[in-house]
Amino acid sequence: MGRIKCAVVGVGNCFAGLVQGIEYYRKNPEQKVIGVMHGEMAGYSIHDIEFVAAFDVDSKKVGKPLSQAVYAEPNKVKWVDSLPKIKDVIVKQGPRLDGVGNYVQKVVDPVEEQPVEKLREEIVQELKNKEVEILVSYLPVGSDEATKFWAQVCLDTGTAFVNCMPSFIASDTEWAEKFKDANIPICGDDIKGLVGATIVHRTLANLCDRRGAKIGQTYQINVGGNTDFLSMKEQERLNSKKISKTESVQSQLSQRLPDQDIYVGPSDFIPFLGNTKLMFMRIEGRMWANIPYNMEVRLEVDDKANSAGIVVDAIRYCKIALDRKTGGPLIGPSAWLMKHPPKQFTDGKAQQMAEEFAKAE
Ligand SMILES: NC(=O)c1ccc[n+]([C@@H]2O[C@H](COP(=O)([O-])OP(=O)(O)OC[C@H]3O[C@@H](n4cnc5c(N)ncnc54)[C@H](O)[C@@H]3O)[C@@H](O)[C@H]2O)c1
Repeated sequence: MGRIKCAVVGVGNCFAGLVQGIEYYRKNPEQKVIGVMHGEMAGYSIHDIEFVAAFDVDSKKVGKPLSQAVYAEPNKVKWVDSLPKIKDVIVKQGPRLDGVGNYVQKVVDPVEEQPVEKLREEIVQELKNKEVEILVSYLPVGSDEATKFWAQVCLDTGTAFVNCMPSFIASDTEWAEKFKDANIPICGDDIKGLVGATIVHRTLANLCDRRGAKIGQTYQINVGGNTDFLSMKEQERLNSKKISKTESVQSQLSQRLPDQDIYVGPSDFIPFLGNTKLMFMRIEGRMWANIPYNMEVRLEVDDKANSAGIVVDAIRYCKIALDRKTGGPLIGPSAWLMKHPPKQFTDGKAQQMAEEFAKAE
């Protein structure tokens, strides 16, 4: 099987974790690949993924070799010393649009803006020249306009789209229809962690629900110290993220909780935590004879190690769809890998659908 030619928009911490992890396993072939759900999927391993193009707006990254840009501040991932496989890829400029929020502009130093149409032409050319098959979007939370720009670029160039962030494309009826009509695969929206806050919370909520324990109230709060959490200090940028995370839990209950009884969201930026993300979750309710119960979970993870393996799978599901010449939103894989897919299922059902999709001829 051939390699999987990908491009990235948003050379931030998540991308740094993804490519440094691939390089880590390349340098340590004796190690079993952990942190990913499938060693091989339809014949594709993590080493088939190749990033051949990249786009950003930060002057510390644009115009630089991708192998250097990955280490530029404010990125924090330093798991390997060098990235020889991407040293010949030069990061190109994307349109800033609504990408850089008020808090983040203190650490991201955008290059001078250029007309969007000029950038669009250059981007389309770059994707064509590099024969890019799949675009991975790691744009910041709240970049709704930038996300629509890149979704349209995918439609115009026949590029499959992995939307890791919470602006709704795969789960938006109109955009989903456009990808379906153009027969271009899309996996989205808003990547789940491998064992992240969302999947832990929804699994436990679903457990209580199925066992007949009534949930009265539940919360999930998250804190971290990277640029993603800095972005999320801006409440206006958070709208879709809160919807994405809340609906992911609500979808696992046989009866929705009233809005006032559920709180799920990013809650604060604590600089010294860096990429460490802390999640605090509580479920409380009633059992037999109206007797109360509650549970609390504290989850501590490296946010970037937690998400890379899921993106590796999302890329491979898109590649499988491209090989089969099928397009539109990938329903099973998106439900299994993303917080806000076009259609929610229980995780057991979503996993089964995703695996059947990978195996189907
Ligand atoms: N576990 C996780 O880390 C996780 C889980 C779910 C979703 N996400 C989402 O993934 C996205 C990326 O997260 P991250 O931690 O890498 O963020 P980050 O802030 O480290 O990186 C974002 C990158 O995008 C660049 N950028 C800003 N505006 C741009 C524009 N208009 N065009 C091109 N590039 C632009 C920035 O310069 C930066 O390099 C976020 O939306 C985040 O919410 C992450």
